[in-house]
Amino acid sequence: MNDELRELYQSVILDHSRKPRNFGELHGEGCVHVHGDNPSCGDEIDVFLKLNDGKIEDIKFNGSGCAISQASASMMTIKMKGKPRDQATKMAGVFRGIVTGQDRQLAEEDALGELQLLEGVQHFPQRVKCAMLAWRALEQALEKGQGDVTTEDKPD
Ligand code: FES
Repeated sequence: MNDELRELYQSVILDHSRKPRNFGELHGEGCVHVHGDNPSCGDEIDVFLKLNDGKIEDIKFNGSGCAISQASASMMTIKMKGKPRDQATKMAGVFRGIVTGQDRQLAEEDALGELQLLEGVQHFPQRVKCAMLAWRALEQALEKGQGDVTTEDKPD
């Protein structure tokens, strides 16, 4: 990573971790809730989706963790809001490829915008878990939300 990119990375991570977007909870009809944790550090996150007509109408998260986990979650919610479920699932796979360095889908990565800045964590296995914390919960929430969701799921 060159100096300019490193500076951008730091400012984006700091901005999102200090002022996380879409921080909160969603409850009610059409809402799915998944609780996720990172066993290696004990940090926890909750992801809430409101699905409507096959789309993520709204998404929020809460929890606590390191700057990378919070920034990754915050940026994820911005990207996912309004996305059809299939596209969201695909983007989660693309993000996983970026941060693990495997299964890269280069043609798709631009769609992730600033999230590509997290590419560097692939060299630090513990940090991969931080970056993926909210995304693993998102993937589970999307799975849970398949079919008609009419009632809120309780946390695991
Ligand atoms: Fe716990 Fe990063 S150190 S999520």
